[in-house]
Amino acid sequence: MNSPKKILCIGAGYVGTPTMAVIARHCPQHKITVVDINAERSAQWNSDTLPSYEPGLDEIVKAVRGKNLFFTTDVPPAIREADIIFVSVNTPTKQFGAGAGMAADLQYWERTARQILEHSKSPKIIVEKSTLPVKTAQAMERILDAAAAPIRFDVLSNPEFLAEGTAIEDLEHPDRVLIGSQETIEGLAARDQLVALYENWVPRDRIITSNIWSSELSKLVANAFLAQRISSINAVSALCEKTGADISEVALAVGTDHRVGRYFLNASVGFGGSCFKKDILNLVYICRHYGLHEAADYWNGVLKINDYQTERFVLNMLGAMHNTLADKQIALFGFAFKANTGDTRESPAILVARRLLDEKACVAITDPKALDNARKDLAGLSGRIRYEEDPYAAAAGADAIAVLTEWDLYRGLDYAKIFAAMNKPAFVFDGRNILDHHALHRLGFNVYAIGKSPLSSFA
Ligand code: NAD
Ligand code: UGA
Repeated sequence: MNSPKKILCIGAGYVGTPTMAVIARHCPQHKITVVDINAERSAQWNSDTLPSYEPGLDEIVKAVRGKNLFFTTDVPPAIREADIIFVSVNTPTKQFGAGAGMAADLQYWERTARQILEHSKSPKIIVEKSTLPVKTAQAMERILDAAAAPIRFDVLSNPEFLAEGTAIEDLEHPDRVLIGSQETIEGLAARDQLVALYENWVPRDRIITSNIWSSELSKLVANAFLAQRISSINAVSALCEKTGADISEVALAVGTDHRVGRYFLNASVGFGGSCFKKDILNLVYICRHYGLHEAADYWNGVLKINDYQTERFVLNMLGAMHNTLADKQIALFGFAFKANTGDTRESPAILVARRLLDEKACVAITDPKALDNARKDLAGLSGRIRYEEDPYAAAAGADAIAVLTEWDLYRGLDYAKIFAAMNKPAFVFDGRNILDHHALHRLGFNVYAIGKSPLSSFA
């Protein structure tokens, strides 16, 4: 697809903007517009300070913005002129009515379908980029088929597999691009246009095509599989702590079997992020909808283990610190749900902070990118919370450090200096297993890691 096209993306979020920026970089022949109803967010994408931190994104946006990448809030003309429309709006868990707490909330999605219908005057390819329940394309087609003057719309599914913190790398060199279409002559022709767009930088053998329902379902299942690996290793970490086995050694021994693979076996305080939980809840809901209760229970177990792991982390802190945290100072190293992002959606740090405040501990939070979001997440909570840019300031006078995000920065700190400034006995709870536990123990810390025997005078 190399003749110049007009491409529109509805939704300038964590997915929409990086994806469009990478397309713009590789396809100078196409004009790409990103619209968002959030005027503030749109203005930030047009400014020097972008609304979210993502390594490499600044450079790309600044290189292509105003050339072939444009941000606007003016939806109608953008829809009118587009040949291809990516829909990348949020699809959070529904909080009301039938399916509350489980199903996907499709109100933003449906609104875009109606906007497309209202403003379109020419045929368009509509690309589902948001993560959606299987069969959503059918609902989209039904809405679009309601046009008074018949206009041809072809709906494709093209779920996104990027991870935050590595979004640009993932988009530049994807393991695969998945494109699902109706298996009609028109559906396959639309699919071929999208394949051609990606071929501008993705090798053809990495572009997978499938029927549209497989594509929609594969996205939910991909996230469920990834989360399941983390819950599996986290469940084993609990057993390691009881038996003297070491979770890093077990993960290595298991993961070096190429059939298992070594990725995504880092035991942790629990997984977070905007998607794993919501997508598994959605999968569980769909299974229940079809009466597949055993399958639903199986996937729900992944979420139950995740909650258990975070709660276990807090209870381990409580137990290690003589069963009371009242008035103790705890420095939380990291608040983002993972390193290299300021995003705190569903971060295990939120639950840990809340639980520590329930125990009447004082909490000092430090994070290189997520302090603004942390302030919003904890707004209105009663208790003593400090926010510190500097990890040394967060740890000064503290009884314990809890590492909650795997920022590289925390590996390289001067822990002798930190130890000297802490209350004694001083504790480290490494919820990401990133520190040198023996070195910390030699400095005098009581060290508790995930899935390892404590190095502590109190264990
Ligand atoms: P987000 O909340 O960051 O962005 C969505 C944007 O859509 C918001 O800015 C919102 O204002 C805008 N929007 C909503 N309705 C609109 C409308 N009618 N017109 C114009 N703009 C509208 O969400 P996100 O993290 O980018 O996720 C988007 C989708 O991609 C979700 O379905 C998510 O599950 C999926 N996804 C996310 C990630 C990730 O890493 N965040 C990765 C893969 C897939
Ligand atoms: C995840 C998937 O990796 C992406 O493929 C997917 O596109 C995206 O969800 C989505 O649909 O939103 P993301 O949530 O950005 O990406 O980040 P991950 O790297 O998957 O990490 C998720 C959580 O799992 C983080 O809290 C991370 O710290 C945790 N994690 C990850 C572990 O606890 N252990 C691991 O071994 C790996």
